[in-house]
Amino acid sequence: MIRIGDREIPQALYLAPMEEVSDRTFRVLCREQGADVVVTEFVNSDGLTRKCGKSLRKMDFHPGERPIGIQIYGQHLEPMVAAARMAAEREPDFIDINAGCWVKKVAGRGAGAGLLKDPDHLAAIVSSVVAAVDIPVTVKTRLGWDENSIHILDNARRIEDAGAAGLTLHCRTRSQGHSGPADWSWIPRVKEAVRFPVVLNGGVMNAEDVVRAFRETGADGVMIARGAIGSPWIFRQAKEALAGRPVASPPPRERVELCLRHLRLFLEAKGPRGITAFRKFYAGYVKGYVHASKVRVSLMAFLEAGPIEERLRAWVDELEAMEREGRSIEAHPAPTPQADDTAGLPVDPCGDVCR
Ligand SMILES: Cc1cc2nc3c(=O)[nH]c(=O)nc-3n(C[C@H](O)[C@H](O)[C@H](O)COP(=O)(O)O)c2cc1C
Repeated sequence: MIRIGDREIPQALYLAPMEEVSDRTFRVLCREQGADVVVTEFVNSDGLTRKCGKSLRKMDFHPGERPIGIQIYGQHLEPMVAAARMAAEREPDFIDINAGCWVKKVAGRGAGAGLLKDPDHLAAIVSSVVAAVDIPVTVKTRLGWDENSIHILDNARRIEDAGAAGLTLHCRTRSQGHSGPADWSWIPRVKEAVRFPVVLNGGVMNAEDVVRAFRETGADGVMIARGAIGSPWIFRQAKEALAGRPVASPPPRERVELCLRHLRLFLEAKGPRGITAFRKFYAGYVKGYVHASKVRVSLMAFLEAGPIEERLRAWVDELEAMEREGRSIEAHPAPTPQADDTAGLPVDPCGDVCR
């Protein structure tokens, strides 16, 4: 059970913070599709203290997105405290501290998962941030730096003692990056060690995984990252599955209309150049149906929204005509998404560089 303000959310479904993915547009779509809680892309504490425009904009959110957390990251205590104060001025429901990012330019500098190398410093950041703001502070972290340094039980206790209100555990080590199996067996062990809520993250790629994650681990919440890219309906499907109802896949026309709405909102937010940044989403929206990869490749060539709409709608017309003729529209074999199936997906969150 997750409590945020006066809301109580049993089996809470979280949209993960994802750099260049979980922006305002995508968060709104995921909330509409059933995500209970959303978190911003990570915001660099040094960028915030320098009042970098990109960092400031990442904290913008729409009231309809609530409950929402603003995630901050950094190596040093003072900028993290200053950043937390700036984030708190936006009045999110909580602030999340990133202690899990694995990419070299973040973790290598002692931020993100780099904080796992100095648990005293991590605890000091958490307690100072907690003292500086009057909203709940949570932490998102990993099992440990590598398989020889899995100190999550100790770290979770220290994070709780430092005053954090909850923990999200990406059930991989820093050296695993985003690949390899996520070891959910740590969730019940962490839950036994602490009293605050624990959210499971890592390797949740479809509605069945969500059901299994809650059943096998007793997690208070489940956070979905790559499984939601180009498939925001995963939250709706997970809700159906948790209620014991059959899970329906949205028909191609619904997928395409959602993709086009996502594209329109994305371009409104980012301007026309956003068209190339949107390419990472096509694979998820079209997968599972005949000619999906041909369509995806052709969409990559377009630099304006008009031809993209035409191509996608023509494809759906073609699929519907096939259905009327009694022909199968499903790609064979229908792909089963895997946790480390990163084809077409962005895998590296890039640094929060001022542009
Ligand atoms: C493109 C991308 C960007 C990410 N950016 C962030 C981020 O800003 N903050 C963060 O805590 N994790 C970030 N992550 C990690 C995810 O939140 C999540 O922990 C990870 O992908 C494992 O979950 P999954 O197996 O469901 O994908 C990112 C992951 C991806 C794929």
